Amino acid sequence: MSLLELKDVSKIYGDLHALDHVNITIDQGEWVAIMGPSGSGKSTAMNIIGCMDNPTSGEVLLDGQDISKLSRKELTEIRRDKIGLIFQQFHLISYLTAVENVMVAQYYHSLPDEAEAMEALERVGLADRAKHLPSQLSGGEQQRVCVARALINHPEIILADEPTGNLDEQNERIVLDLFRQLHNEGTTLVVVTHDAEVGATAQRVITLEYGKVTSENGDISFGKGSGAIR
Ligand SMILES: Nc1ncnc2c1ncn2[C@@H]1O[C@H](COP(=O)(O)OP(=O)(O)O)[C@@H](O)[C@H]1O
Ligand SMILES: [Mg+2]
Repeated sequence: MSLLELKDVSKIYGDLHALDHVNITIDQGEWVAIMGPSGSGKSTAMNIIGCMDNPTSGEVLLDGQDISKLSRKELTEIRRDKIGLIFQQFHLISYLTAVENVMVAQYYHSLPDEAEAMEALERVGLADRAKHLPSQLSGGEQQRVCVARALINHPEIILADEPTGNLDEQNERIVLDLFRQLHNEGTTLVVVTHDAEVGATAQRVITLEYGKVTSENGDISFGKGSGAIR
């Protein structure tokens, strides 16, 4: 059984088809990049996969359960249990330290546990920054705190929307190395990006254009001009 399956999923705003009859299957342990130019429906897809929004039509199967018609409250519970989210803008709480930011995710899931939160920070190489506020951390360090926060409740899928969009090249490499490590440990990763290099590190690239899947095998044929990135 696939971990995640989008079956004929559409999301329609007025007369705009942000997703237009999309079919995507992702297996446990896969590292998939969803790519496409701006406005192609990447964030819309992420919001639906991440249990933040319902599609207009179609089925979304997570672990075999159809989540496409669930209420906001039901979706929130599933998101808490199964999804770890990473955003371009970090979304850390500015007046909480790194370790407290990780503990907030534990709080919403079950119980805060500082020792476990510290372990997660160690895993991303930030044990010595645990008591720093976000404003005292570099962009790369903030994103690593977000990776620790996404991991803390052992989600089935890590879902990242443009995770390196605000990072310089060096920090992009650090975050991608972390993704590689998670992938090797069996984590399922879905990374939304328009950055060809980030896409090329994934096992498989699904390309969206105008809300439709135009390729599923890594042939990156839009954007920077070159189709042969690997
Ligand atoms: N809440 C919304 N209301 C109306 N249109 C939206 C909304 N969200 C996204 N769209 C439109 O849907 C299309 C896909 O958007 P999005 O998924 O954000 O693209 P991407 O992340 O690939 O840049 C765009 O044309 C965008 O303007
Ligand atoms: Mg987007």
